[in-house]
Amino acid sequence: MKTQSAVWKYWAILATLLLPVSTLAAEDGKLKVGFMLPYSGTYAGLGHAITNGFKQHVDELGGKIAGRTVEYVTVDDESDPAKATENAGKLIKRDKVDVIVGTVHSGVALALTRVARETNTLLINPNAGADEITGSLCAPNIFRVSFSAWQPSYAMGNVMLERKHKNVVTLAWKYSFGEQSVAAFKEAFEKGGGKVVKEMTLPFPNTEFQPYLTEIAALKPDAVFVFFSGAGAVKFVKDYVAAGLKTSIPLYAPGFLTDGTLEAMGDAGAGLLTTLHYADGLENAKDKAFRTRYAITYKMQPDVFAVQGYDAAQLLAAGVGAVKGDLGKRADMVKAMETAKIDSPRGAFQLSKAHNPIQDIYLRKAEGRENKVIGVVSKALADPARGCKM
Ligand code: PHB
Repeated sequence: MKTQSAVWKYWAILATLLLPVSTLAAEDGKLKVGFMLPYSGTYAGLGHAITNGFKQHVDELGGKIAGRTVEYVTVDDESDPAKATENAGKLIKRDKVDVIVGTVHSGVALALTRVARETNTLLINPNAGADEITGSLCAPNIFRVSFSAWQPSYAMGNVMLERKHKNVVTLAWKYSFGEQSVAAFKEAFEKGGGKVVKEMTLPFPNTEFQPYLTEIAALKPDAVFVFFSGAGAVKFVKDYVAAGLKTSIPLYAPGFLTDGTLEAMGDAGAGLLTTLHYADGLENAKDKAFRTRYAITYKMQPDVFAVQGYDAAQLLAAGVGAVKGDLGKRADMVKAMETAKIDSPRGAFQLSKAHNPIQDIYLRKAEGRENKVIGVVSKALADPARGCKM
């Protein structure tokens, strides 16, 4: 009996010793991606497009990156900054993800970025533009494949100057991204002699636009600059047309207004001029292949958000591929991501020292369901990365 219990004890010890090894081996074969994105609310469409784009690239790679099977964990962040820290914590502590891909709303992204910095979690931001993310909050583990608030709106300031507008009213949702978009527009526009006569804001995600439209009609500016996106953008443009303003006071915006929204806007969106780092009708082979596959897979056309999701996966693959799947080699992985040349549907780009894309900004005109490219208004535009010490 004694011998038997000794054998059992031996087996029990061996089993506990082996357990972590075998668990580790199972985890080693996987790459756990945590999507922290909005799947409900006004930005839901953006969250889904990013997810689709990301998965499209992983599927192109056969579902694996450097031999690791990609596994997804998903959190609906509801574009709610109040829930952001807890949601990020869940992905890191409970789900033990290898990388977080998130998010859309800058208020949520700022909190997420702080958590990622504190825990040294690899973060790839597929949209949110708050300048600080690749500015004062920049860090080796924080990457952005989209844009800074500054980039498309600064470019729009110059477009509106060229179009001889002098007095402009701005209107945006009152949170970091809206405010920074207006500030960047104003920086370029006032430098060239334009004047912002009134800055108006409303709380996110409110869509009671009527009082603001009444005020715009009374102020009679030369033009209006706005930031809205997702479902709220559709409502805004329809209301602008219904108020009879579109024919008398031209409306401009960074392209978030019309990307992924033109179909829902119907005729209301026709002719709108916007600036963005993506457009319909780009003549490059990567974009053609990307769009064809996207349309077949998802039965709809891609937008800028889908492109950003796709490029988030490309950047991750560049990093994980360089270390042959050995995530312990973080410094080497970061270096590979920093120097990667991303063959994006928007046109190839590389990251700045602060980890934000250096990219062309296009002028686009809405025609039917497309934001047709008119030309490049800012070639290889780099964000100033104010406050980044890296
Ligand atoms: C942001 O909050 O950073 C944001 C949201 C929606 C967009 C663009 C930027 O379309």
